Amino acid sequence: MANNVRPASMERITTPALANKFIEDQLSALRAQIGSKKVLLALSGGVDSSVVAALLIKAVGKQLVCVHVNHGLLRKGEPEQVVQVFREEMNANLVYVDAVDRFLDKLAGVAEPERKRKVIGAEFIRVFEEEARKLDGIEFLAQGTIYPDILESGPVKAHHNVGGLPEDLKFELVEPLKFLFKDEVRVVGEALGLPKNMVYRQPFPGPGLGVRCLGAITRDRLEAVRESDAILREEFAKNGLEGKVWQYFTLIPDFKSTGVKENVRAYEWPVIIRAVNTKDAMTATVEDIPFPLLQHITARITSEVKGVNRVLYDLTPKPTGTIEWE
Ligand code: XMP
Repeated sequence: MANNVRPASMERITTPALANKFIEDQLSALRAQIGSKKVLLALSGGVDSSVVAALLIKAVGKQLVCVHVNHGLLRKGEPEQVVQVFREEMNANLVYVDAVDRFLDKLAGVAEPERKRKVIGAEFIRVFEEEARKLDGIEFLAQGTIYPDILESGPVKAHHNVGGLPEDLKFELVEPLKFLFKDEVRVVGEALGLPKNMVYRQPFPGPGLGVRCLGAITRDRLEAVRESDAILREEFAKNGLEGKVWQYFTLIPDFKSTGVKENVRAYEWPVIIRAVNTKDAMTATVEDIPFPLLQHITARITSEVKGVNRVLYDLTPKPTGTIEWE
């Protein structure tokens, strides 16, 4: 498809000046396309949908309706940051949907990883569809499609590209980032004034913590993975590893082991740390984390996270391991 090929004349966006030029061009193009109509956007809080939101807020203000679905599988503080940045600071029209119970009820007892992904994807479309039906006069659907999504052409971003909506909700698409590579999206995001920690966020899978709470998700283990992940991120940031390691997170398996806490037998879960470097996510190497830091993180997780008595560090490169465990 001709309109899905990046124009050969398009310069790589590497500087704030080039980003500002891209933004100016997009603002005119978006205003011309949208006119006085309304646009809907599923705003996950990830880099791409956040940059699309910031661009559209600049272009058409309150004609943009952002829908943020909290499915309960986001990292600690993420839903709050979406509300803070977009509703409070950018004055966006933001519909916040607390769908945590709905998702966790649907996921109860579902243990097989691909089934979990399907349940999360299908429920996301259902929630988004319900919200779309409550709104009048929507004619456009904005999406955070970026160039690698087109090149790879698989269901790369099923989490915030809401293909799969019923026929009567097939809006005209608005995809202002579709010719940009990730590094360019980040430069544009910074130029739009988005917080650095949002723009330089590490990759996070669409099904979120759902695939890091192994097997059938339970609320207590989900909280344990969210809390331990927050500790890991805090410690990596404090120790200068935040921008250095490509992807790092914790996960929690669905078995317990014996331990001892305050002289009492504690039959609890382990938490596993994963920290990897890669160029394209096809292969990955394990980050050589200083041992004292691993010990410190272990001490914090086992004392601060309820139900956890051990911490393990995954030393497996990809291959043979994948980056995620599910
Ligand atoms: P794996 O585990 O296959 O992961 O080595 C490679 C990269 O893809 C991310 N990932 C996903 N991203 N939906 C996504 O949007 C998914 O279902 C999914 N599964 C894995 C993973 O975090 C890593 O960056």
